Amino acid sequence: MNVKKKIGDLDIEWSKLWQDGIMDAWSHQYIKKYGSITAAWDHKAAEYTKSMEHSNRTQLIEKIEEHSPETVLDVGAGTGIFALPLAKSVKRVVAVEPSPGMLDILKNKAEANNLTNIECINKKWEDTTINEVIALNKGKYDLIICSHALYYITDLHDSFRKMNEVSKGFIYLLIGAGHDTDDSSYSKYYERIYERPEPTFPDYSFLYMTLRELDIDPNIEMLEAYAKRYVQNMDEAIDLWKEDIDGELTEAQRDAIRDYLSDKIKKEGESLYWEWRSKDALISWRAE
Ligand SMILES: C[S@@+](CC[C@H](N)C(=O)[O-])C[C@H]1O[C@@H](n2cnc3c(N)ncnc32)[C@H](O)[C@@H]1O
Repeated sequence: MNVKKKIGDLDIEWSKLWQDGIMDAWSHQYIKKYGSITAAWDHKAAEYTKSMEHSNRTQLIEKIEEHSPETVLDVGAGTGIFALPLAKSVKRVVAVEPSPGMLDILKNKAEANNLTNIECINKKWEDTTINEVIALNKGKYDLIICSHALYYITDLHDSFRKMNEVSKGFIYLLIGAGHDTDDSSYSKYYERIYERPEPTFPDYSFLYMTLRELDIDPNIEMLEAYAKRYVQNMDEAIDLWKEDIDGELTEAQRDAIRDYLSDKIKKEGESLYWEWRSKDALISWRAE
């Protein structure tokens, strides 16, 4: 019996569970507050760039460069955390990104760094065609990266098939794989801050199972992830929560956030920073 049939016989809709779980965990709130996921990222673009400035997300670049790719496709490229540094060492990067707000930052940074080898497609990955993606590169890509964007990409089977179709090398998916490693207290505060029980977050293994349904047999490596967000004071840190909450924060919500952050805000010289640690799953395979 083949794997596809065996997994199919389980009758579990892995990709639907992933999509519905993310929607319940936070995307519904983005849509409620901003109108759409794309509008939410337009709004979040500047803060997202700041929050990633002192992170180790780009640790993956070392692994990517081991393959010496000449051409890279970055799906859900955001503000260019991978596209920009990679453009310095490869011939061409094509960035697919639906949010004009995120893409503007990427383009401005590319211009400021005199990088002329980044092509952009301002669309959702689901809305791109194989032909347009290949045409921009005049051929298939040596490597594809899709980092922290699979929370929002729908039609996962078709989306993964399309990645396979346009690639002639490795495909790297980077995705969150759990809470802060040193932060078991978070769920306790979630209810106070968001005024509802913490929703169950679908595990990265749902993506793994979706890939297995396609007869893809990926590698999975766990990476330690961290980011530091520098702030002037506690109030600035608390205000960061406003982005994901309807209306203004109440005093009770501010108190809950203050309590949660009390042992997390640290001093570094004259600055304050808040550090969070988590795990990322790096799911990778070589396109057939
Ligand atoms: C968390 S950010 C990740 C950005 C960047 N790849 C990184 O690792 O920092 C998620 C990005 O996915 C983009 N995105 C949302 N829906 C998408 C879709 N359907 N197709 C491609 N990208 C999407 C968002 O606009 C946003 O820029």
